[in-house]
Amino acid sequence: MPIETDVLVIGCGVAGAAAALRLAQDRQRQVLVVTRAFHPEESNTRYAQGGIVSRGVGDSSARLAQDILAAGAGLSLPSAVQILAEEGPELVQRLLVEELGVPFDRDTEGHLTCTLEGGHSVPRILHVGDATGQAIEQALVARLRQYPNITLRTGMTAVDLITSSHHSRDPLAVYQPITCHGAYVLERESGVVHRVLAQATVLATGGLGRIYRYTTNPEGARGDGVAMAYRAGARIVNAEFVQFHPTTLAAPGAENFLISEAVRGEGGRLYTPDGRHFMDQYAPRWGDLAPRDIVARAIHREMIVHGYPYVLLDLASHMKADQIRERFPTIYATCLRAGIDITAEPIPVVPAAHYFCGGVLVDGWGRTTIEGLYAVGEVSCTGVHGANRLASTSLLEGLVWGDRAGRDIAARNDLRRVNEQEIPPWEDVTTQTPADPVLVYRDHRTIQHIMWLYVGLARSTHRLARALRDLNHLWEEIDGFYRATRLSDELIGLRNMAQAAWVVTRAAWHNRQSRGAHYREDAQADQFANLGESQTLDERWV
Ligand code: SIN
Repeated sequence: MPIETDVLVIGCGVAGAAAALRLAQDRQRQVLVVTRAFHPEESNTRYAQGGIVSRGVGDSSARLAQDILAAGAGLSLPSAVQILAEEGPELVQRLLVEELGVPFDRDTEGHLTCTLEGGHSVPRILHVGDATGQAIEQALVARLRQYPNITLRTGMTAVDLITSSHHSRDPLAVYQPITCHGAYVLERESGVVHRVLAQATVLATGGLGRIYRYTTNPEGARGDGVAMAYRAGARIVNAEFVQFHPTTLAAPGAENFLISEAVRGEGGRLYTPDGRHFMDQYAPRWGDLAPRDIVARAIHREMIVHGYPYVLLDLASHMKADQIRERFPTIYATCLRAGIDITAEPIPVVPAAHYFCGGVLVDGWGRTTIEGLYAVGEVSCTGVHGANRLASTSLLEGLVWGDRAGRDIAARNDLRRVNEQEIPPWEDVTTQTPADPVLVYRDHRTIQHIMWLYVGLARSTHRLARALRDLNHLWEEIDGFYRATRLSDELIGLRNMAQAAWVVTRAAWHNRQSRGAHYREDAQADQFANLGESQTLDERWV
């Protein structure tokens, strides 16, 4: 028997939770939220350190929109930016501050304190120390649990979206517009694949940072949603724009740990290992707080040209030790475990893959190009982020579009649940042979190395062509392997990683123009060397 629900939400980070919460308030709707994690709060959201954009002093939605557009390097969609800038700060105040009571940091008089991050013209970022995402996620999940019409199931990995044209028993369904009717979902502990049928399906699976060898993202960010949507025939756009965060910890055994941009927002400065401050040379208008793509590429450039293994981020000279411990407790403790006392010495940092600016194309309500399928949060592309996301807008976008998708679904009466006779149960064509962990590990690592080396911060036609060849070959291996072994979460993830990597690489290969996070060395022989005295990198884009 299938599992039947009104709305299926796949993923429980800020965007999925916001959609479910909004739908729960419409008590007629039954909402099933599934997450592959065994703990509902385990998601990309949980690892967001910096904060969430709100309204700063002397700020306005027009000013926020201007900053988002400038960071987006000419590719942000103005109508989407306007939605975010107008609705976002109000929703943060109403839902997160007033309704859920998220414990954002306050000053001694009880006023919320705002910090600054790269590309922002005023301090407007609310934070809970350096663990903002975790605090927001905890509050959202706790609230979800209070609604009887929301069922939250953990350890459930979506395998594929169910669409009429791919799965219907009626062969003529192929002539109808593609419609999503839910998903096949693997219950990880039992190995059973459920047919989950829903009127509307919301993809909220997060990003794909794990297709790269070095990333700030947790292990679940393997491109599951993008790969599923791609297979179902949804339109995916801007996939070449993978944002690299400038600063992750470069210490043996502690790699991939994010050093929040808020560290620079609170005065931290970047130096080369021999003590040269370099950001003013690359972005005089912003210095260390330039948009992320500029800072990441400047660090990369310094490392390549001078052979540095990392650059240094110095906070100790700009903030008192007790303030550092209070403001950045997670970063302080993690660095200390790695042997670095950030109250007394600089932090060695390198860039790493951080955020997927592209994704499944959606409109202002989170509707994808597939009927009945919504996408919210990092898996989606609303157009807000363009070619490079402004810091601390990701939680905000997830919240706003999650809420909007929930509103849209709640208001619709044209959605129907497919008759279960139309959709067959999952056909288990795989054998009971478990996947060889050595092969899974090796293929996993191979994808990450290909992406890191050939589809990383600096790209070229030769590297991208090589990546496509390697990924095509790998895809054949992985797909064959997928069909010949027992279905598991790891195998589903590996296959999705291969497909998501290919989607990113193909988009990067097609786009020969450097813009924002997509930098082609062969588009402009040397983007930094070409800068004349009067023209700096940041001036090109704003
Ligand atoms: C950070 O804390 O630097 C990350 C915040 C973000 O990705 O917007």
